[in-house]
Amino acid sequence: MSPPASRAGFIRGTARIMSEENSGKVEWSEKHWKEMLVKQRVFLWLDDTLDKLADWIGLEPGMTAIDAGCGLGYLGYTFWKYIGKNGRYFGVDMSSQLLQDARAGAAEWAKGGETHFMTGDVYRLPFPDNFADIVMCQTLLMHLKEPREALAEMLRMARPGAPIVCNEPDNLSSMLMNDYSSMPEPEIEEKLLFSKVAIICNEGRIKLGRGDLRIGARVPLLMSKLGMTDIETRLNDRVYFAQPPYDSPAQQYHLKEVREQLEKENTPEGEEKREFFRSRLREEFQAGGGDPKDFERFEAITDKRIAEHTPMKLQQIENNEYYFCHGVMFYIIRGRKPL
Ligand SMILES: C[S@@+](CC[C@H](N)C(=O)[O-])C[C@H]1O[C@@H](n2cnc3c(N)ncnc32)[C@H](O)[C@@H]1O
Repeated sequence: MSPPASRAGFIRGTARIMSEENSGKVEWSEKHWKEMLVKQRVFLWLDDTLDKLADWIGLEPGMTAIDAGCGLGYLGYTFWKYIGKNGRYFGVDMSSQLLQDARAGAAEWAKGGETHFMTGDVYRLPFPDNFADIVMCQTLLMHLKEPREALAEMLRMARPGAPIVCNEPDNLSSMLMNDYSSMPEPEIEEKLLFSKVAIICNEGRIKLGRGDLRIGARVPLLMSKLGMTDIETRLNDRVYFAQPPYDSPAQQYHLKEVREQLEKENTPEGEEKREFFRSRLREEFQAGGGDPKDFERFEAITDKRIAEHTPMKLQQIENNEYYFCHGVMFYIIRGRKPL
């Protein structure tokens, strides 16, 4: 797919046609989004971290759990071994397509308790007050225009004393980290431009009502403003890294993902995917008040890096020389409904 003749003109053009209603709400069952939902959740947690978290949250067999914005039911799958025996898990999502797949998945992992998947809006969930022993969400608040309202609804459904748990990242900070890899580093000016684009895009994203990439770092404050008690926060300690001889299952998985993505990079499928995400970014940059010339430079540098780095990276993988190490700011925030 070729880029528009004048990107500056394109950015100004999108401003005219964009409104709150068509500003790009995500339908998570669509191909590119669903792929992210599946792939980013493989090797998301270390098992011993989950054991510690379950203890810290106070998960127990037999609990009634609500997962707001459950998608494919990943949180249910993750915590089932702690709550599942005689427990009840209610996954709610606005996508009935995803829920269909979630139900099929749960038939495999949910033994010994009950699972229910229902369509619903996280701002008005179909449960009475004080219903659940735990209310949780993962990467939901970061996509919402009104995260505080959703959190208030989660609080409403928790019984007094019950934990409300949010697993939400600060992806903006993760993007700004100066990670190390075996690939050539961008120039300092280029790094600064990438950072500028990322910050402006997040401001645009908030203005468009698409959520806030930094939400993980804001949730503790939102919880305290809503009157929750016992608020604590931790980080997921998974680090994404691969180095020769790539001898762990996680490294092999990440390497396979990188290789598959590189092999698609210069195919129509790869170009379509790149343009899909880039056009959203362009809208966000524009909404954030960025200078179109900066975005043009950003696109030119990114295109050049993709063209040069794709064969280089494939060669490094072939030669067992490819290396990367990348940490992410993925917060687990726990509050409680006051007694
Ligand atoms: C990034 S996905 C996360 C899914 C799941 N929690 C996970 O970690 O795999 C966000 C989910 O929130 C759902 N969602 C977004 N806004 C919603 C709303 N207002 N009501 C219900 N679900 C919503 C989407 O359909 C999507 O499945």
